[in-house]
Amino acid sequence: MCKDAIVFRNKPKGVTLEAGVEYFICACGRSKEGVFCDGSHEGTSCTPKKVSVPKSKPYLICLCKSSENFPFCDGTHSMYRDEDIGKSVK
Ligand code: FES
Repeated sequence: MCKDAIVFRNKPKGVTLEAGVEYFICACGRSKEGVFCDGSHEGTSCTPKKVSVPKSKPYLICLCKSSENFPFCDGTHSMYRDEDIGKSVK
């Protein structure tokens, strides 16, 4: 987890990732759509998480930016309420 990250949402998003493709997942919580890096981390200490998957299928991508298994959801989002969206990660 990046200490400068903010909570994009307090729940994950199902995203179909293709096997063998390199993805850069937003770790700062500031990208427009919340899933893929769009360069919005500039000026923070955050960098996107590079990931490729073994199977083409939907994956639950962490949008609270706090998962211990980032970029995949591990349930950590349950500690955030709606009012935490856009605020610093805990
Ligand atoms: S969205 Fe589930 S752990 Fe972050």
